[in-house]
Amino acid sequence: MNYNLDSSIGIKHAIFALLALVIVGLLGLAFVQNEFPEWKKYQKEYYKLLAAKTGDKKRLNTPIRVKQVWNQELNRIDRCTTCHLGIDKPNFQDAPQPYKTHPMLSGFISKHPFEKFGCTICHDGDGQAVSVEATHGHVEHLNEPLLTGVYVETSCTRCHMELFAEEAEFPETPKIMEGKRLVNELGCGACHTINQFGSVGTMAPDISGFGTKKELAFMLLHEFTFKYLKGEHSKRNWEWEHFKDPQKIMPGNLAQNLPPTIMPNWGLSDDEATALSVLVLSLRDYKVEKIPMKYIPKLKNHKGFIQYR
Ligand code: HEC
Ligand code: HEC
Ligand code: HEC
Ligand code: HEC
Repeated sequence: MNYNLDSSIGIKHAIFALLALVIVGLLGLAFVQNEFPEWKKYQKEYYKLLAAKTGDKKRLNTPIRVKQVWNQELNRIDRCTTCHLGIDKPNFQDAPQPYKTHPMLSGFISKHPFEKFGCTICHDGDGQAVSVEATHGHVEHLNEPLLTGVYVETSCTRCHMELFAEEAEFPETPKIMEGKRLVNELGCGACHTINQFGSVGTMAPDISGFGTKKELAFMLLHEFTFKYLKGEHSKRNWEWEHFKDPQKIMPGNLAQNLPPTIMPNWGLSDDEATALSVLVLSLRDYKVEKIPMKYIPKLKNHKGFIQYR
């Protein structure tokens, strides 16, 4: 009897001690995360790199602080440069991420100085966050997931509306150019209204503002069709798989007497489906985007021709 009582007290003590340890551990973790957040580590690392590159040891003493571009006109606060510190330094080409020089820095990027444009106007992501996970991690249903690779093109049209004009060539956005050619060739305008292409089809949704629709709004609208996707559950991938096989994603419902979608399956290649996905995601609703006129590039009139460069 005694023995049993002792051991049960022993277990209670052990549990109590364990809980206390867990609580102390959690408090410690919270403290560490507060005092030594991820971004501080990246900044210290950067100044080490900078000191080594410049041979100037004083760089190691640079104060550590959150950096941001606050642009009221564009309604954005971007803290990306808190970690991406070498982004505007030409001699960081060979540095690892997040310190690497921005691609095409001296090319067309120079027309969009970071201190004026920030980053999220082209890359989306959460500008105000300062952890990798929150800015561009795989946060489920992040409303504006980070745009990388060819998908960065979808943001150019926030300002460069001129590139939808039939005669406009814009080599910096090759996927949109290819998508534009496909839209005309495949006749999307027969079913869809697309203001940018002057089409007024009524058999399918108006997609003129498709690219402005946020991830969450899209998810809610298409909730029941996400189960048909093979890949990632995102607006981008829904679009891609829908172009590859519209009837797979929109098979209809026999019980409710709903036929499959009438959108044709053209047997598109992967590249063509990517081009069309980039194109539809670049269709912007300018009433919602609200970009001030001074950020809209001016078209240059040249001897009666509109010159886009
Ligand atoms: C806490 C530090 C940190 C912040 C803040 C941060 N980044 Fe990054 N970023 C990284 C690191 C580390 C990498 C490389 C590893 C990775 O991709 O996760 C990276 C990679 C990237 C890449 C390349 C991704 C790829 O797949 O090629 C892009 C683009 C990028 N960041 C843009 C941004 C933008 C835009 C913001 C602001 C909205 C931002 N970053 C904020 C640390 C950061
Ligand atoms: C005018 C639009 C624009 C702005 C502004 C912009 N970027 Fe980019 N960014 C691009 C494009 C275009 C690419 C190339 C995408 C590709 O082809 O992979 C790119 C690529 C990148 C990459 C990937 C580099 C690599 O080697 O893979 C990173 C990281 C990045 N940008 C970070 C930033 C950060 C941080 C800012 C803000 C300081 C910023 N960008 C601002 C358009 C922009
Ligand atoms: C916030 C608005 C905005 C966004 C987003 C934007 N641009 Fe621009 N871009 C401009 C403005 C304004 C100019 C004109 C700058 C000037 O005249 O000096 C410009 C100039 C250019 C030029 C030079 C054209 C010329 O006439 O000299 C190119 C090329 C270009 N942008 C490509 C891009 C690409 C590619 C993207 C997307 C990755 C992009 N831009 C995103 C506003 C924007
Ligand atoms: C024969 C008519 C028809 C043609 C041609 C057609 N579509 Fe569609 N499309 C539809 C219908 C109907 C839907 C709605 C049901 C569905 O999602 O499949 C749709 C849906 C879409 C959606 C999703 C809209 C949303 O709000 O979720 C996009 C984007 C789209 N089409 C783009 C295109 C593009 C780009 C082309 C040309 C390459 C095209 N469509 C050609 C009938 C058509």
